[in-house]
Amino acid sequence: MGKQRILSGVQPTGNLHLGNYLGAIRNWVENQQDYDNFFCVVDLHAITVPHDPKQLAQNTYAIAALYLACGIDLEYSTIFVQSHVSAHSELTWLLNCITPLNWLERMTQYKEKALKQGENVSVGLLDYPVLMAADILLYNADKVPVGEDQKQHLELTRDIVIRINDKFGSKEKPVLKLPEPLIRKEGARVMSLTDGTKKMSKSDESELSRINLLDPPDVIQKKIKKCKTDPIKGLVFDAPDRPECNNLLTLYSILASKTKSDVAIEAQEMGWGQFKPLLTETLIESLKPIQDKYQSIMDDKNYLQTVLKDGQHKAETVANETLLRVKDALGFLPKF
Ligand code: TYM
Repeated sequence: MGKQRILSGVQPTGNLHLGNYLGAIRNWVENQQDYDNFFCVVDLHAITVPHDPKQLAQNTYAIAALYLACGIDLEYSTIFVQSHVSAHSELTWLLNCITPLNWLERMTQYKEKALKQGENVSVGLLDYPVLMAADILLYNADKVPVGEDQKQHLELTRDIVIRINDKFGSKEKPVLKLPEPLIRKEGARVMSLTDGTKKMSKSDESELSRINLLDPPDVIQKKIKKCKTDPIKGLVFDAPDRPECNNLLTLYSILASKTKSDVAIEAQEMGWGQFKPLLTETLIESLKPIQDKYQSIMDDKNYLQTVLKDGQHKAETVANETLLRVKDALGFLPKF
C-alpha cells in the first residue's frame, strides 16, 4: 500500500507566528517522511478580507520560504501556490452549489471575523470554508494537520463529502475521499501573550500578543518581558485560573523538547523573574536556525520560483484528475 496523503496550508497574510508553527508547520515537518505531502500557500484565502495587492506576491514568497526554512523537505513534500492551480476555484463553485448556506453561517470563525468587519463582509469570507474543503478534497487527502481553530472547518469538509457522495456517488464508488483532521494535543492552541484566554492570532492589533517566527532576539526579549503573567510564585500547568502560566510553560516545554512532567518539576519553585529569561533564551535559540535559513532562501528567488513551478505541476496533475471525476459524477458534458 502507498503512503497516506497529507494536505495543509497557511494564508500569506503577514508574518507567521508561534501558533502557526507549533499548531501546524512543526507537525508537518516531523511526520513528513511517513506521508505523501502537499503544502499549499493559500493566497486565494488571503483576499477574503481586505488586502494590499502590493504585498500579496511578496507574502506568498515569504510563506513558501518559511515552509522550507522550517524544514519541509522536497523529497517527501510538494509546495505550491493555491492560485496557480485553477482547479481550486473551479471545485469551490461545484461544492458551493451543494453546500447549504446555513452550514456556512454557523461557522465560528466567520461570525468572529464578520463581526469585526461590519458592513464590509465579502461573500468570499462566508465561502472561505468551501474553498478550504476544495483544497483538501482535490488531493484526496487522508489527513489534514491543523491547529484546533480549524477543527470546525474540517467537520464542514467532511459533511460536504458525505453529502456529495450520498447524492452523486455510491458506496463502491464514492466521488470524494473523507479526510480526517490531525490535531496534536500540545501546541494545537497557542494563546496570546497579552491574554491567556485568547488564541495567538495574526489579526490581533497588538504586536505584543504574538511572537513571530522572524522576530529578532531583542524583540523576542521585549515581548516576553512585557507578556502577561500573575503574582503567584511556583509555576504550574493546567491551573484553571492561570491560563498565561499554562501557555508559557507549554511553549517552553515544546521548544526545549522537554516533557511536561520534567518542566513541571523544573518550574515548581520558580518565579517569573527566573522563568522569563529561560523562555526568552529557548525561543531565540529555536528560531535562529529558521531565521538564518529563511534569509538565504529569500535571497535566491530563482530557486524559490523553481520549487513553486515544480509544485504547481505536481499539484495540477492530482487536482485536475479529481476535478474531472467530480464533474463527471455531477453529469457535465465532457470536453471534446
Ligand atoms: P491560518 O493561516 O489562519 O493558520 C495556519 C495554521 O496555523 C494554525 N494556527 C494555530 N495553531 C495553534 N495555535 C494558534 N494560536 C494558531 N493560530 C493558527 C491553524 O490552525 C492552521 O493550521 N483556513 C486555514 C488555511 C487553509 C487550510 C486549507 C488548512 C486553507 N486551506 C486546507 C488546511 C487545509 C487558515 O486560515 O489557517
